[in-house]
Amino acid sequence: MDILLSEKKIQKKVCELAKQVKKRYPSKVFCVVVLNGALVFFSDLMHELRRIGVEVSYSCVKLSSYEGKKSNGNVLVELDAKHVKGADVLVVEDIVDSGATLNFLIPHLKKQGAKRVRLCALLSKPGKHNVPIDFLGFEISDKFVVGYGLDYNQRYRDLPFIGIKK
Ligand code: IMP
Ligand code: MG
Repeated sequence: MDILLSEKKIQKKVCELAKQVKKRYPSKVFCVVVLNGALVFFSDLMHELRRIGVEVSYSCVKLSSYEGKKSNGNVLVELDAKHVKGADVLVVEDIVDSGATLNFLIPHLKKQGAKRVRLCALLSKPGKHNVPIDFLGFEISDKFVVGYGLDYNQRYRDLPFIGIKK
């Protein structure tokens, strides 16, 4: 497998993102983590945020998108986030690809009474979506990537780097 982003590069970026997040949320932040993919990224981000003095609380959401032949699929909520009402939410996502997940999730959280919703994503495939990302790790080309939480048929989530699955 070709390595796209090394473990070292990812860890450096996580530290940079934590610093950016701290500017907006100086003492505490409430995250909505999009399972399963964002779990690894979130865990490292939370660790770094705590280290620099930002208290982190979180709730998880699990969504599945049934994409037929069209790119924007219907999104189904398998597990819904809690404690969203009145909250200033930071959504933590692994990758924004077609944008279908976030185009569903952000209005969904607002409907549940979120006061504000911002987005932190490790990866984005630009040109494929129009989702505004407040805190972005890397822009990548339109290739299927795995590792650091991202899977192919549930494999490779445990890799410490991000690689291109051929
Ligand atoms: P969306 O197309 O932006 O809705 O992305 C849906 C989900 O598909 C993301 O949250 C990822 O979990 C997954 N996904 C999208 N692109 C990739 C990829 O290149 N590798 C692994 N998972 C991906
Ligand atoms: Mg995801």
